[in-house]
Amino acid sequence: MSQRVALITGGAKGIGRGIALDLASRQWNIAFCYRTSEAEAKTTAQDIIRQGGQALALRCDVSDPVAATHMVTQVEKEWGRIDVLINGAGPYHRRNLFDETIEGWNEMFNSNLHPIFYLAQAVAPAMKARKAGRIISFSMANADQMVAQPEVTAHYIAKAGVLILTRTLAKLLAPYGITVNAISPGFIDSGSTAPQELAAMTKRIPAGYIGAVDDTVAAVRYLLSDGARYVNGANIQISGGWGI
Ligand SMILES: NC(=O)c1ccc[n+]([C@@H]2O[C@H](COP(=O)([O-])OP(=O)(O)OC[C@H]3O[C@@H](n4cnc5c(N)ncnc54)[C@H](OP(=O)(O)O)[C@@H]3O)[C@@H](O)[C@H]2O)c1
Repeated sequence: MSQRVALITGGAKGIGRGIALDLASRQWNIAFCYRTSEAEAKTTAQDIIRQGGQALALRCDVSDPVAATHMVTQVEKEWGRIDVLINGAGPYHRRNLFDETIEGWNEMFNSNLHPIFYLAQAVAPAMKARKAGRIISFSMANADQMVAQPEVTAHYIAKAGVLILTRTLAKLLAPYGITVNAISPGFIDSGSTAPQELAAMTKRIPAGYIGAVDDTVAAVRYLLSDGARYVNGANIQISGGWGI
């Protein structure tokens, strides 16, 4: 069997990097993209190789549909296949709706939701032809509640959209043996949230502590396992009971 290949967006840092290193330790080939974090991407590529995988670090802004589609072509050309797409990139900013800018509003949709559509459309043909493939995207723990979110409005609406897009893709791709699932973290110490914000949140988390990157990696490992072949359109909350 050819080497298994994963494409991970936002894989230079945080949760994406954790997934990359875990798959590399099981000898996967890992292509990942970053937008600005070039130094972190170099380190992650070296660490992937150290773990036993092969690495392809690509600068790609996945909010650009042409660049996102081109990246899929690049990986398929390099390694002949993409077995798994992990949509890790998902920036957020905390800004009251009435202080939000048009650019900030659009950025939340352009980087959190739209790339999942562009990339799924690009990887699906080869996955369908092989009758195999897995796609995992990241939402957020309370996105399925559809509640008011004055401080993270666009991000929250985009993450709710991720769940609908996940279920839609699952329904369309299940006949081809492909699964499409979502993971919804609560508060994970991945480096993207300020330590003060994490500390302030701890008392509101029923489990009483902030999650680790490894908590999300474990869920990815499960969704990529043979045991999860019939799990499709699911949303796994990794939040210690927060946001449910
Ligand atoms: N950490 C949490 O507590 C938490 C909670 C809820 C949901 N999530 C979701 O879980 C996922 C992973 O979280 P994380 O904290 O590990 O992520 P993160 O650190 O916020 O993002 C990982 C990387 O995504 C890249 N990225 C952002 N926009 C991009 C774009 N348009 N094109 C290419 N790369 C882009 C960034 O790359 P550059 O640095 O190169 O710009 C960043 O390093 C995200 O979808 C996030 O929304 C996380």
